[in-house]
Amino acid sequence: MLKDKVAIITGGATGIGKAIASKYIDYGAEVVIAGRTEETGRETAEELGCEFHQCDVTEYEQVETLVNSTVDEYGQLDAIVNNAGIGQVGSIEEMSLEEWDTVIQINLTGVMYGSRAAIPYLKDSEGCIINVASIYGLVGGPGSPAYSAAKGGVVNFTRELAIDYATEGIRVNSICPGFVETPMTDDYLDQEQFYEFVRDETPMQRVAEPEEIGGIAMFLASDEASYITGTNIPVDGGWTAH
Ligand code: NAI
Repeated sequence: MLKDKVAIITGGATGIGKAIASKYIDYGAEVVIAGRTEETGRETAEELGCEFHQCDVTEYEQVETLVNSTVDEYGQLDAIVNNAGIGQVGSIEEMSLEEWDTVIQINLTGVMYGSRAAIPYLKDSEGCIINVASIYGLVGGPGSPAYSAAKGGVVNFTRELAIDYATEGIRVNSICPGFVETPMTDDYLDQEQFYEFVRDETPMQRVAEPEEIGGIAMFLASDEASYITGTNIPVDGGWTAH
């Protein structure tokens, strides 16, 4: 379904990004994963059989270089998955002002940077942008004000960008996962009280595996999703159904 397509996945060395990369490769895409940590990035790239490009999504020049070098090498860009992100726990009184800035910079501005750098090439390929938001971009979540603000921003940015570029043939969508077992959440999900909170809030009464997010990301990048734009799709075991 993704044969002859070229995709960039930020934060693709671990967790959800790695699962998306793996799915894209299985379905025939050429994939470049991008991230801050060279060692993990290279390990994952070798394991999956794709390329790694070191890039901090909060540095616009680095993001531009990532996109330009991908197009130089593969001749085109069909999809960018803006997946890189960090978690945040604690009320606004507990959180430092620096932490707010960092979370917004990575989780929201990083999504804009990836989109802005990719758009000139996506116009050529009539490609797509896929943002990884969160259920906490659709509903409030306790104890994560910066994270919820950033993800809420990603959700509405996705709608806005979809409208701006609909006539240029670029589709823009986001995926809003519920809790997924990844390096970001491992420490929290290991705590019984937190795990019980997540399980009780989730109609399906379990967390997701990263692979359960890969399928929708693959579908959204494929031609099967040719009329889908401006949507924010929950993949959440029913969390936002109530
Ligand atoms: P993860 O920690 O495994 O993946 C995040 C990746 O982003 C890591 O590889 C990390 O190195 C990279 N990254 C962080 N800051 C970066 C920066 N400045 N520049 C480049 N790369 C950077 O965690 P996970 O869970 O796979 O997260 C992926 C996305 O999914 C994030 O946007 C997260 O907010 C979102 N998400 C995760 C959920 C979960 O329960 N795990 C639920 C909903 C959304």
